[in-house]
Amino acid sequence: MRHLLGICDLSREQIERLLDRADSLAQLSERENKKLPTLTGRTIVNLFFENSTRTSSSFDLAAKRLSADTVNVRASGSSVEKGESLRDTVQTLSAYGPAAIVVRSPFVGAPGMVTRWTSAAVINAGDGKHEHPTQALLDAYTLRRRLGELDGKSVWIIGDVMHSRVARSNILALTKLGARVIVCGPPTLIPREIESLGCEVSFTLDGSERADVLYVLRMQNERMRDTFIPSLREYAARYQINGDRLGAKQLLMHPGPVNRGIELSPDVVDAPQSLITEQVASGVIVRMAVFYELLAGRGEPGSARKRATAVAPTREGARG
Ligand code: NCD
Repeated sequence: MRHLLGICDLSREQIERLLDRADSLAQLSERENKKLPTLTGRTIVNLFFENSTRTSSSFDLAAKRLSADTVNVRASGSSVEKGESLRDTVQTLSAYGPAAIVVRSPFVGAPGMVTRWTSAAVINAGDGKHEHPTQALLDAYTLRRRLGELDGKSVWIIGDVMHSRVARSNILALTKLGARVIVCGPPTLIPREIESLGCEVSFTLDGSERADVLYVLRMQNERMRDTFIPSLREYAARYQINGDRLGAKQLLMHPGPVNRGIELSPDVVDAPQSLITEQVASGVIVRMAVFYELLAGRGEPGSARKRATAVAPTREGARG
């Protein structure tokens, strides 16, 4: 595996290998000294063109736990605001000889483009409505720790599936691991042909009481150009997961950030069935596993720098 662009590129064996790696790294997080020397002297660039709390902080922490140096660049406050293109930004940062570049972008396919402009390994931290592979891996990891193997388990993914890269990556990852995935929401928020990813569709919550897991999505207002639902109140009445709709033995997940009172009632967020905090903790461990798989044993810092120099900005590409 050279890059991690999407779950669509991974086989069940590759997913399981990453989750097994995360299992072995998890033991480390229980020690007082949580650092491993694996990536000493290597640099990881986190390039975030969209807001993020969990994903950016956990990528940063994961890199630090493996002793890498990190450079965190956000669109706001960087030259991107001054109009520097993605290509120029990547080529500029590649001059530091990073071993990996983590990219979050509102544009589908941006991380794939980045692979053409750098010799670093590229990790997709969310590209538009397309994929968010490390989120799906951390969710699968969290579930596997609770439920054991996922074969035959049923997971309902509820809410704004239309705008959700988390839903896409999770449908792919969980079905590859043998789970049955049902996506549920109002017809306007379920993309046509989503079944081609391997899931089933339900426009009501009927039957969700038999699910092992309710995975609830955030209403992604920032990605909506039109009105997809009559009102948030009506949406909540039909689809909000509250104490009555969450069984005592069911598990509750959400990628965060939660709109309390819209997709989830405030009380269930902190209910004993909720894995939301565990998901955040898994994020660090799984992202360490991804760095480990992509980078450990591959290239020395010096050679990375030499390779990067070969693709340093050209006069043609640079805007100054
Ligand atoms: C998700 C994202 O940004 O795609 N959040 C996350 O990474 N934890 C989901 C969301 O924003 O709703």
